Amino acid sequence: MAPAVEFRVTRYDPAADEQPRLVSYEVEVAAADRVLDGLEYIKRRLDPSVAFRRSCAHGVCGSDALVINGTVRLACKTLLQDLEPPLLVEPLATFPVIRDLVVDLTSFFEATRRVRPWLEAGEPIPEREFLQTPAELTAFAEGTKCILCASCVTACPVVKRGTPYIGPAAVVQGHRFVNDSRDVGAEARLRILAAADGAGACENFFECTKVCPRGILVTKRINEIKAMLQAGGYVKGDAADG
Ligand code: SF4
Ligand code: FES
Repeated sequence: MAPAVEFRVTRYDPAADEQPRLVSYEVEVAAADRVLDGLEYIKRRLDPSVAFRRSCAHGVCGSDALVINGTVRLACKTLLQDLEPPLLVEPLATFPVIRDLVVDLTSFFEATRRVRPWLEAGEPIPEREFLQTPAELTAFAEGTKCILCASCVTACPVVKRGTPYIGPAAVVQGHRFVNDSRDVGAEARLRILAAADGAGACENFFECTKVCPRGILVTKRINEIKAMLQAGGYVKGDAADG
């Protein structure tokens, strides 16, 4: 018989429960199992009512970010052998819970949309593809790795404190397009990021960088945006549509 690990999973139905509670499950695990495998085991064999999100199961879709043993991680990229049992599995703390481990990410995606995370190409549009030098590609390539998992937002002490802040992921998205040589929307994005709740709200705790499962240097990119705002004469808090 395979060894068992205790999973303590947050269960909560806001429509029926007064408050969240932890429910304990004994999960039989194999040597290379991940936290996501444990959750799948619970759902298939012990309790089909447990709610959690996952899609790709390989660190690409960003849907299974959870607070595991107190740290924000992707369940599909976290090996059980790297954790001290019992396992405490909780939802992302800075978002309202829909049920159990599933949170409402509406505010996260609204913040991301504010920085216009799409290419606004200038005229003339070339007949074939846009050409970029390797250096032009490097300037924004790191930001394309973001999988919008919201881990950085949940780990951010400024967000946790309740200080208005667009959040690290939105600044990363802004950085990605502001630094794309094909894009002409930088000014509008920088005005948004210059608002009182924009990049300047970051206090350099570096927690976002520590938890990013894609290895993005989140704090560094935020500071690069801050430098661009300063160099461009944008003043913190003056963005009309921020
Ligand atoms: S910057 Fe990293 S932690 Fe933040 S949403 Fe993107 S991938 Fe997730
Ligand atoms: S399930 Fe897609 S990132 Fe984990």
